[in-house]
Amino acid sequence: MCGIACLVGNKRAPEECYNALEKLEYRGYDSAGMALLTKEGIVIHKKQGRVENLKDFAFNSSSNIVISHTRWATHGEPNEINAHPHISQNKELALVHNGIIENYKELKEKLKEKGVNPVSQTDSEIALEIIAEEEGTVLQKVKNALKKLKGSYAFAIIDKKTKSIIGVRKNSPLYVAKTTKGIMLASDIICFNSLADEYHLVQENEIIQISKGKLKIFDENLKQVSISFTKMMDVGHIADKMGFEYFMEKEIREIPAVIKRIVSNYQDKKIIKEVVPFFNDIEKIVLIGCGTAYHACMYGAKLLSSVLNIDCNAYIASEYKYSKPIISEKTLGIFVSQSGETADTLGCINLFKEKGAKTLAVTNVLHSAIVNMCDGKLPVFAGAEIGVASTKAYVAQILVLYLLSKHLENPDYELIEELTLADKSKQVIKIDKEIVELIKASSKVFYIGRGYDSISSLEGALKLKEIAYISAEGYPAGELKHGTIALIEKGTPVIVFATEKKLFEKTMSACEEVCSRGAKVIVVCAKDTKIRDEFYKIELPSCENEELESILSIIPLQLLAFEVSKGLGYNPDKPRNLAKSVTVE
Ligand code: M6R
Repeated sequence: MCGIACLVGNKRAPEECYNALEKLEYRGYDSAGMALLTKEGIVIHKKQGRVENLKDFAFNSSSNIVISHTRWATHGEPNEINAHPHISQNKELALVHNGIIENYKELKEKLKEKGVNPVSQTDSEIALEIIAEEEGTVLQKVKNALKKLKGSYAFAIIDKKTKSIIGVRKNSPLYVAKTTKGIMLASDIICFNSLADEYHLVQENEIIQISKGKLKIFDENLKQVSISFTKMMDVGHIADKMGFEYFMEKEIREIPAVIKRIVSNYQDKKIIKEVVPFFNDIEKIVLIGCGTAYHACMYGAKLLSSVLNIDCNAYIASEYKYSKPIISEKTLGIFVSQSGETADTLGCINLFKEKGAKTLAVTNVLHSAIVNMCDGKLPVFAGAEIGVASTKAYVAQILVLYLLSKHLENPDYELIEELTLADKSKQVIKIDKEIVELIKASSKVFYIGRGYDSISSLEGALKLKEIAYISAEGYPAGELKHGTIALIEKGTPVIVFATEKKLFEKTMSACEEVCSRGAKVIVVCAKDTKIRDEFYKIELPSCENEELESILSIIPLQLLAFEVSKGLGYNPDKPRNLAKSVTVE
């Protein structure tokens, strides 16, 4: 889950890498560093914390050959020693890594026996020393060392001898492009935005070598092969906060525009018609994702099973992968991922492919691995989402799954109420200050609901946990009394989603149960719904179609989490211990 940006260009390469690295901070921000090839040899500069800590160095250094890295720590605490790049003990190679070397402990022992004592706690430094100890040219060293490494990696390596950068990858993304600044290797094509017309996704059996003005690609036998480029696509103005202090607020406030875009793009049915054949002759549907995307899967599973007469179930990718799943050619896998790069989700796609099952991606990033791997795609058109907490992308995912289910239920279904959804969503981008203060002062919060509302409860709680660091539990309202209600004390806030009309009375019973144990109840429901005077109310515009009301219901809760996080003095865009894109298992 780290970001890699490397350049062979002119003397300003450190500055250009810095600019690229800033765009990759969504992949992790525990530490940042760069290695420069200079007349004096390889120079390393690294710092704990954000990429901005490299700015002075990058803007005051010169080198044509630079590798740089922003880290999300896996092995070894996020300090300066463990920051990348690492330099080999013979000072000939420097390396940055995204991924996990699973057999690093065993390799470390072997290195120690040979007298090589790594200075960091990382698996990445071990990989570097394994490469360094191989015989031959740098290409031969890399080729032979890769056979000894288990796990996932995107490596970029400076080789002092050949004055070149080597790039290889397995289950971690790495792209290369000839840009106006030189030849660039990076974890994401956003680094090439406005600098290149085309890019190449490094293939898993390729070794890339970049030297001054030259880009060479070798196959696994080190035979040079030709390069196929893909046209660059618009990846949005990712660095622009449009006057907002935080991306997260900007992204929540973009939701009406996102809804409008989705409804208009899906209105002509072309996108959905392309995937309709995926639903022919299947026996079950499995929806897979992680975190917020998993919640979208739950939503999708419920929607699809309500219109198709087959089993539709949602699974957490990291659980599904190791659960001996039953997949046949008649199983359809739907993979939901904002980034399209989440390692656990990608791992599951491979299982489906092995069994000859059909795969469908629901994603926001169209150049991502998920789109490359799946047989079909449903784009969610949310636009670049930078805040670590997913907001507009979640709304987009569930809306797209909703539109899919409507079409599958009735191919002639005309969007009518859906056309009003964007305007209705504008009305819910607000939150009562009193509720914000109540949550800010609480050490635990419960979110409850039934049916679709129980999924919103999970998602609302996840938002609060991840950016405000308040213990929050999302729970089905009917299940509370079977144990969890023991945690309700005087003053505990309980946020109750109540958009499902047929379940309303039952949901209200849960409100009474927690209220009589001292809870402060906040009900998320349609404006005209009657609730007790002492309950707080988060009002939603009424929708005839209650699934649409439920889609709207999460928006004020996203804003609540944002306001609480900001109010407590945290940075909602960069919550601790997290990264936007989780590219390790
Ligand atoms: O890019 P993905 O949608 O695959 O990411 C999945 C999760 O890591 C992500 O939704 C995560 O849970 C968010 N930080 C939640 O806000």
